[in-house]
Amino acid sequence: MSTRYKVGGRTHTIRELLEEQKDRVPITILGWIQNKSFIGGMIFLIIRDGSGYIQTTIKKENVPPEVFNVVKDSTKESAVKVIGETKLDKRAPYGLEIIAKNVEIIAKADVWPITRSAIRSPSFLYDIRHLSIRGKKASSVIKIRSKVIEAATEYFFKNGFYLISAPSIVQSACEGGATLFEVDYFGQKAYLTQSAQLYEEAAILALERVWTIEPCFRAEKSKTAKHLTEFWMIESEVAFATHEDIMRLEEELVSAITHKVAEECSGELKILGRKFTPPEPPFYKITYDEARDLIMKRGVTFEWGEDIPTEGEKIISNEFDKPVFIKEFPLSARSFYHMTKLDNDKVTLSSDLIAPEGFGEITTGGQRLSDYKELEKRILQQDFPKESFQWYLDLRRYGLPPHSGFGLGVERVTRWVSGVKHIRATSLFPRTPTRLNP
Ligand code: 4AD
Ligand code: MG
Repeated sequence: MSTRYKVGGRTHTIRELLEEQKDRVPITILGWIQNKSFIGGMIFLIIRDGSGYIQTTIKKENVPPEVFNVVKDSTKESAVKVIGETKLDKRAPYGLEIIAKNVEIIAKADVWPITRSAIRSPSFLYDIRHLSIRGKKASSVIKIRSKVIEAATEYFFKNGFYLISAPSIVQSACEGGATLFEVDYFGQKAYLTQSAQLYEEAAILALERVWTIEPCFRAEKSKTAKHLTEFWMIESEVAFATHEDIMRLEEELVSAITHKVAEECSGELKILGRKFTPPEPPFYKITYDEARDLIMKRGVTFEWGEDIPTEGEKIISNEFDKPVFIKEFPLSARSFYHMTKLDNDKVTLSSDLIAPEGFGEITTGGQRLSDYKELEKRILQQDFPKESFQWYLDLRRYGLPPHSGFGLGVERVTRWVSGVKHIRATSLFPRTPTRLNP
């Protein structure tokens, strides 16, 4: 956490103190009481700020007389200001503690409702997510998610991509009609966006290589451990790029993200009990046909041309020790915009990147159809009015070269890296078919 942004007289963040590990430094910190205990006439507080945790010892003789009792009566999750100095102490939980000279209760909390038995009820914890996000594990996942985005941002800017923003209220479906959220737009039918891809395809004609990070919406009624109805997608589109080029880009990006998280979120990963080794490129590549053979051998059957069922995806995910691209999906299992192979119009130049350890799909990408007539035919096969796709078709009349792109689910990647079972843990306030509050 930056040392420059200081408020309320704070001299250090907790992380800075723990990194510096210096004895007898005068400090003022701001934070919350994560835990309080009273042993041998002394009060021990674990103070938490946005950056970390530290033990604070309050001895009667060190603080003004009234302060000792105020702290003794203080409640968990009250906001506090602690003035004191550091003390190196191997016995302290973080190798360094604070000896308080004064403690001010800035905002006293009511009795904290999250008891030990409450922790055993995930649904209760999500009912009070506005409070439970303070938990050590809950907040660690959110910090890792922030690092995933930071790493991606760094990667794209370093590599000459422009960040663009596409509308969230749209008229053209990108990923099929079944999962659209409808919006009444002053009497006109509109939808919440499923993906920024179509807009990115317009943008590359001006900017050549672009990326977006935006909320996407899918009315997926199925309750699974990897679907949210609102999630964030990082997408990128590149003019003149082939499907192979885009897989390389995905590989580099996923590698950059996972290495940065492993290096800079080691504390959070430890809190989560997650042993994570970032994968080294190149990732594996298999075809849909090869994946299907393997899945069928393990007893899960599905017809050629169907999307890979969840159980099948899990088999692939558990088979490899690092991410694997499944490429050359049948057109019948894909959205309308996919380019097919030159020698086989039933097979697309597209792929899903499957994370290992059972976590499954984290990206989908591929080459787009650049031909006007063929795309028009595909659009007419959909149930959508052609007018809403006219602008997208138009791109094919004005110099659209071969191009490719992909989308990466921010929460899917966070789930994998953090090693959490359910995707809802990766969202601050998850939206699922049964959860709209808080
Ligand atoms: O596979 P999807 O649907 O692909 C697209 O939307 C393309 N238009 C992207 C592109 O080529 N620009 O979504 C991309 C990724 C998935 O691989 C997954 O990681 C994530 O977005 N995703 C979801 N994450 C959470 N909840 C959901 N319901 C998700 N649906 C997709
Ligand atoms: Mg996909």
